[in-house]
Amino acid sequence: MNPAQSSVFIRSLGVHTPERKLTNDDLSKIVDTNDEWIKTRSGIAERRIAGPNENPSDMGAKAAAQALKNAGLNPEDIDLLIVATMTPDVPFPSTACILQAKLGLRRDIPAFDVSAACSGFIFALQVGTDMLRSGNYRRALVVGTEKLSGVLDWQDRTTCVLFGDGAGAAILELTDTPNVGILGNMLGSDGTNAELIHSVAGGSAKPSTPETIQNREHCLRMNGKEVFKLAVRVMSESCQRVLNKCGVTSDQVAWFIPHQANARILEAVAGQLNVGLERFPSNLDRFGNTSAASIPLALEEAWREGKIKHGDLVLLVAFGSGLTWGATLLRWHEPKK
Ligand code: UT7
Repeated sequence: MNPAQSSVFIRSLGVHTPERKLTNDDLSKIVDTNDEWIKTRSGIAERRIAGPNENPSDMGAKAAAQALKNAGLNPEDIDLLIVATMTPDVPFPSTACILQAKLGLRRDIPAFDVSAACSGFIFALQVGTDMLRSGNYRRALVVGTEKLSGVLDWQDRTTCVLFGDGAGAAILELTDTPNVGILGNMLGSDGTNAELIHSVAGGSAKPSTPETIQNREHCLRMNGKEVFKLAVRVMSESCQRVLNKCGVTSDQVAWFIPHQANARILEAVAGQLNVGLERFPSNLDRFGNTSAASIPLALEEAWREGKIKHGDLVLLVAFGSGLTWGATLLRWHEPKK
């Protein structure tokens, strides 16, 4: 097998979401909001909230363990670990290194985080694919895991109602079957729009002090209206660019798995691509926006429910803080057992 020319495919997926559900009615007791507003503006009915000792590395390890089990693999079969997160357990070491130890992966493999916010899973998938094609690794574990509840401003009704916690994991593998798995991708970023979704303090530029904490400057801040417009435009364009690159039309794609930010964004992107919304599976109602975890959560659900079948074209697309965006076209591959 020549790795540089081999296909890279998703062999297996796994997920983990915390037990605790926070409904819109629960939120209406914390901030001035209501179930109707949240449902009609975002499509979200409830989200999961991690416990105090349930960190992104814990949720990610559970999702990864499930992905390994689904593939009939053991931790020692993994050669590379990439974790996408915007809510790392701690600033350092990486959540990937913490997860590596918790999952009992081999102690000599590279493990690192990718920071691309809600687009993180798409970025990590591409980094993993290219590293497998380098010929140095055979199998990669790519995890999107987030504990947004730890960085939300629970007094800001414009953001705290939108996000939730969870994790999803994918096992990437090389195969010599041609034209399967990841067929093409595109990634992009625009740092000039960084302030549309950001936090002000808590990093090395402005370390947390009692004052920054009192002002909740370590929390996520977002200009929702602006982000909404850009998300629709950039996600539609990203899909179109990958489709053009691969010589595929939108009607040939069986499933679109977009980052789950807002049901109205999904509707608008489906409209721009002239595709029926029934080909856009969504879990927003149950999980809200889980950032880097949202695509693997939605993908795993569509796979587990038997929607995605061998040979289907599947288009993943994301958009998030940075700003960052990206899309990946896959031909779903289920190797013969
Ligand atoms: O994953 C990263 C990407 N993030 C996103 O994609 C998020 C993109 N943005 C959005 O999803 C939407 O812009 C929101 C859901 C955040 C907001 O929806 P909107 O339709 O843009 O609402 P808006 O910001 O224009 O607010 C409309 C009204 C305002 O009141 P006034 O000024 O009209 O009196 C807000 O103060 O709704 C008010 N409002 C709320 N009311 C009840 C804002 N948040 C809430 C709330 N409950 N939680």
